[in-house]
Amino acid sequence: MPNNLLAGKVGIISGALNEHSIAWKVAQRAHAEGARFVLTNAPLAMRMGEINKLSEECNAPIIPADATSTEELGALFSGAQEQLGGKIDFVLHSIGMSANIRKKKHYGELDYKFFQQTIDVSAMSFHKMMAVAEKQDAMNEWGSIVALSYIAAQRAFLDYTDMTQAKAMLESIARSYGQRFGKLKRCA
Ligand SMILES: NC(=O)c1ccc[n+]([C@@H]2O[C@H](COP(=O)([O-])OP(=O)(O)OC[C@H]3O[C@@H](n4cnc5c(N)ncnc54)[C@H](O)[C@@H]3O)[C@@H](O)[C@H]2O)c1
Repeated sequence: MPNNLLAGKVGIISGALNEHSIAWKVAQRAHAEGARFVLTNAPLAMRMGEINKLSEECNAPIIPADATSTEELGALFSGAQEQLGGKIDFVLHSIGMSANIRKKKHYGELDYKFFQQTIDVSAMSFHKMMAVAEKQDAMNEWGSIVALSYIAAQRAFLDYTDMTQAKAMLESIARSYGQRFGKLKRCA
């Protein structure tokens, strides 16, 4: 039952591709709790997904951005502040992709170009998001920045192939930037 827990809070939610996406459900719950937010996803995903449906349901504008591009992330954060009328209270990084998994490459035959792409999309994009937020001074004090990890970050899960390393890096970035942001802005 909604309790207006997020009334007055504004944010950015990435990664809602279709109703099976974790970010889709987060957006619906955040909307039900009174938050206002911008939805974002890779420009390619705009064509494949059903994000317009979610946008209408949550009354949330969409700003496409490839999370590997600092320029596009810059436009996302400045556009979001413009649309939402001020600084950001919460950011959800719900982004992951491995071409090695898609192409069913086992751990001993990983394609290293794909591996780099996995790291760039699934982990380094989190650093880029926070670096852009810092440069634009976009976060409100006591804001929250959340990314979604998996237990494979800390254990051997061979079927998860290069995503295992991506999640380990994602968690490491969360610790390091969490400390930096915590000192700068009192948010984590
Ligand atoms: N589904 C699970 O069981 C599970 C478990 C643990 C962690 N996670 C993590 O949760 C997050 C969301 O996963 P999901 O299950 O909702 O899958 P999903 O495929 O619905 O979400 C991944 C999203 O990443 C987006 N994306 C890919 N490349 C991008 C890019 N270059 N720029 C911007 N966006 C890009 C996709 O378009 C998609 O919307 C991922 O980080 C995933 O690893 C999922």
